[in-house]
Amino acid sequence: MLNRTQLPRSLFLATILTAQAAALAPAQTYKLCQQKTPDPLAGCPNGTLYVHPSDARASFRSIQGAIASLPNDTSAHVILIAPGVYTEQLNVTRPGPLTLLGATDRNASYASEDGAVPNDVQVYWNSANYNATFPDNVYTGVLTVGPSLEATLTGSGPTGYPVPPDTPFGCADFRAYNIDFRNEFAPYSSGPAHAVGVSRANAGFYSCGFYSWQDTVYIGKLGNAYFHDVVVAGETDFLYGFGTLFIDGSTLLLRSCGGGITAWKGTNTTFANKYGVYLTSSRVLAANSTIAPSIAGRCSLGRPWNDLHRSLFRDTYLDASILPAGYTEWDGKPNGGIGPNTTMAVYRVYGPGYDAEAEAASNVTKVFDEDQASPYLTPLDVFQGPNGTQPDVAWIDRGVLEGVWGRRGGQVLKGARR
Ligand SMILES: *[C@@H]1O[C@H](CO)[C@@H](O)[C@H](O)[C@H]1NC(C)=O
Ligand SMILES: *[C@@H]1O[C@H](CO)[C@@H](O)[C@H](O)[C@H]1NC(C)=O
Ligand SMILES: *[C@@H]1O[C@H](CO)[C@@H](O)[C@H](O)[C@H]1NC(C)=O
Ligand SMILES: *[C@@H]1O[C@H](CO)[C@@H](O)[C@H](O)[C@H]1NC(C)=O
Ligand SMILES: *[C@@H]1O[C@H](CO)[C@@H](O)[C@H](O)[C@H]1NC(C)=O
Ligand SMILES: *[C@@H]1O[C@H](CO)[C@@H](O)[C@H](O)[C@H]1NC(C)=O
Ligand SMILES: *[C@@H]1O[C@H](CO)[C@@H](O)[C@H](O)[C@H]1NC(C)=O
Ligand SMILES: *[C@@H]1O[C@H](CO)[C@@H](O)[C@H](O)[C@H]1NC(C)=O
Ligand SMILES: *[C@@H]1O[C@H](CO)[C@@H](O)[C@H](O)[C@H]1NC(C)=O
Ligand SMILES: *[C@@H]1O[C@H](CO)[C@@H](O)[C@H](O)[C@H]1NC(C)=O
Repeated sequence: MLNRTQLPRSLFLATILTAQAAALAPAQTYKLCQQKTPDPLAGCPNGTLYVHPSDARASFRSIQGAIASLPNDTSAHVILIAPGVYTEQLNVTRPGPLTLLGATDRNASYASEDGAVPNDVQVYWNSANYNATFPDNVYTGVLTVGPSLEATLTGSGPTGYPVPPDTPFGCADFRAYNIDFRNEFAPYSSGPAHAVGVSRANAGFYSCGFYSWQDTVYIGKLGNAYFHDVVVAGETDFLYGFGTLFIDGSTLLLRSCGGGITAWKGTNTTFANKYGVYLTSSRVLAANSTIAPSIAGRCSLGRPWNDLHRSLFRDTYLDASILPAGYTEWDGKPNGGIGPNTTMAVYRVYGPGYDAEAEAASNVTKVFDEDQASPYLTPLDVFQGPNGTQPDVAWIDRGVLEGVWGRRGGQVLKGARR
């Protein structure tokens, strides 16, 4: 097979664009409800709650007000959010399905526009855990999904915060569509600053944006998160955690370089787990052409938060910002944090940021072949219930799952919500 780095530039671009056209179709599931219509709730599921900063027809002025009104039970609820800028912290602790819909007339994918055309619903919470201001990073989050504060804490050491084992599971099926979550505490890494945290819960994000500089996305213990057509912006360790994160059809924006893009902690379990971060059919780009020259060749794909780190970039375009060696060690840790079970891998990545020779010579980056990549290819392969059961994808938008992963994605979904 032709080495993609050697393709002529025009053919090379055509390859990217074709791959993206297939992958970037946004979710259509709630399009009628999300559309801005004279009756804002037209096309919405029965019982949808409406949030608007001032409209008298809305029952809630704040998103958290609507969330807090819901019963702490397993009933399913939908919240439609009118266009606007909301400054508030969102916590979702209830176990029942909850869908947050941002009102929008957008037809195009979000990720293909690199977030240059923001979503109509913006949620801001500017907060960073600089100089140990807070007891834990989770206090900084714009949105946190998890059954209790304790269950969502990051903690320190190789295994993190010791969550009591009898802690219940949180939201079984949280979803957000067309919402930007922004933690713009400072325009540089100034300590951990979560845009989102998901622990002991399942969460899907469709055409959403996550903007921060450090630790933008945190997927904690027993957290499962699926990102489709999203933008994640950051500088340092901006995809981090203990849980499982699968990203497709999305764009990662490098605002600068620090640490690595991925920083994962693995966990020893009695069953073979798939905890890790998996990115496919996506793009990794400098945030803009002004920053691009100063970060060229400098940004690491990831580093091991502990030596059971597992991450895989596959079928993804890497721009010239990426370090030729790919991943890096964690400075100051014994053996650079790397052990026999550290998996920092790439598979069929391409673009000017992919240097196969330098990656192989690094002894840090694993260049996977098809067999090595095959356990981690789809959401069906990686997501697990709390005790390791598979498949565990009923919480993923069925239209998107089937659209991206075909009939194999749909065949196990009998009884799933749409
Ligand atoms: C929605 O509620 C209306 C009025 O209560 C009812 O007539 C209709 O059947 C409901 N639709 C669904 C899909 O439940
Ligand atoms: C919700 O209910 C569960 C189970 O009864 C309980 O453990 C939890 O504390 C409740 N959460 C809140 C926020 O009340
Ligand atoms: C999206 O498509 C609908 C139906 O084709 C059209 O009415 C609407 O103007 C489009 N919205 C935008 C923002 O292009
Ligand atoms: C954190 O502490 C350092 C050292 O005292 C100080 O220079 C820095 O300004 C502090 N950071 C913030 C955001 O206040
Ligand atoms: C969300 O949880 C954090 C951490 O417990 C807490 O500091 C914050 O006050 C909570 N916010 C809301 C709106 O419940
Ligand atoms: C380019 O991106 C960087 C990082 O996000 C930001 O600080 C800077 O303001 C941006 N510059 C322009 C011209 O947009
Ligand atoms: C996982 O188990 C291995 C082998 O017993 C041990 O060396 C390692 O420290 C454990 N890692 C964690 C994070 O518990
Ligand atoms: C590495 O993984 C294998 C297979 O899961 C396990 O038997 C072994 O204990 C692990 N070693 C370390 C050091 O984690
Ligand atoms: C990688 O491993 C080879 C073989 O053990 C060794 O010769 C080489 O120096 C190592 N490279 C780095 C960058 O550590
Ligand atoms: C694992 O979890 C599933 C679903 O909650 C449950 O049906 C099954 O009994 C559990 N298995 C074990 C071995 O705990």
